[in-house]
Amino acid sequence: MLSKLFSYFLPVNIYKKNSTYSKTLEVTWNNGELVLDSKNTNYSYGSLQRILRKGLKYIGFERIRNFENILVLGVAGGSVIKTLVDEIKFKGQITGVEIDAAIIEIANDYFKLDQIPNLEIINADAFEFVLKTKHQYDLIIIDIFQDTTMPNFLFEDFFINRLHSLLNVNGFILFNTMVIVEKDRLRNLDYRKKFSGNYSLRMYPKVEEHNELFTIKKLA
Ligand SMILES: C[S@@+](CC[C@H](N)C(=O)[O-])C[C@H]1O[C@@H](n2cnc3c(N)ncnc32)[C@H](O)[C@@H]1O
Repeated sequence: MLSKLFSYFLPVNIYKKNSTYSKTLEVTWNNGELVLDSKNTNYSYGSLQRILRKGLKYIGFERIRNFENILVLGVAGGSVIKTLVDEIKFKGQITGVEIDAAIIEIANDYFKLDQIPNLEIINADAFEFVLKTKHQYDLIIIDIFQDTTMPNFLFEDFFINRLHSLLNVNGFILFNTMVIVEKDRLRNLDYRKKFSGNYSLRMYPKVEEHNELFTIKKLA
């Protein structure tokens, strides 16, 4: 394909749309790879996929392969789901929750997420989903951004307590955050303090320029 080849020299944009949640959504060939970007940041594939792949490595591919149920909050183009299915060979059930219907369309049209048999995508606000669901998970991946903004609910006790009840013992949370200004760094330090006793938490700063990852294991 010509655009793919040309993209080794310069990025080639093939789709662009305004978005309520992300300002703009853009699908672009970049270095021979199809990526999804919002106005100011990479959403899927590219650096975002590398960041979450590292997080999954920290948890351990072998351990993840033995899990049964994985919840992905924030699906976008589904790059972490591709890592789970194609690289880790995860065969259990994956539930993806995505607030933006326009993104789900892009994920299916350009990134073929609808061809993954063990994946269910739910068009909902992650906060409401977490509030209502009765299911339990072994791994919860939190990757929620509205362009470069992270909604406050992600850091609040109410949401954290709900996550606790959805997570099986010995299960993990993988949380991707952005740290751009000092306020973000302090917010993350506060977040860390919320997990004591029943958890083993690890923080991975500067995974890629502005990203800080948390892996949080539920011990009891
Ligand atoms: C960085 S992208 C996710 C990338 C994805 N995990 C991957 O591996 O390719 C962030 C996504 O969070 C979604 N999002 C933002 N707020 C949300 C909310 N409250 N509930 C669910 N999804 C939300 C955005 O629409 C966007 O698709």
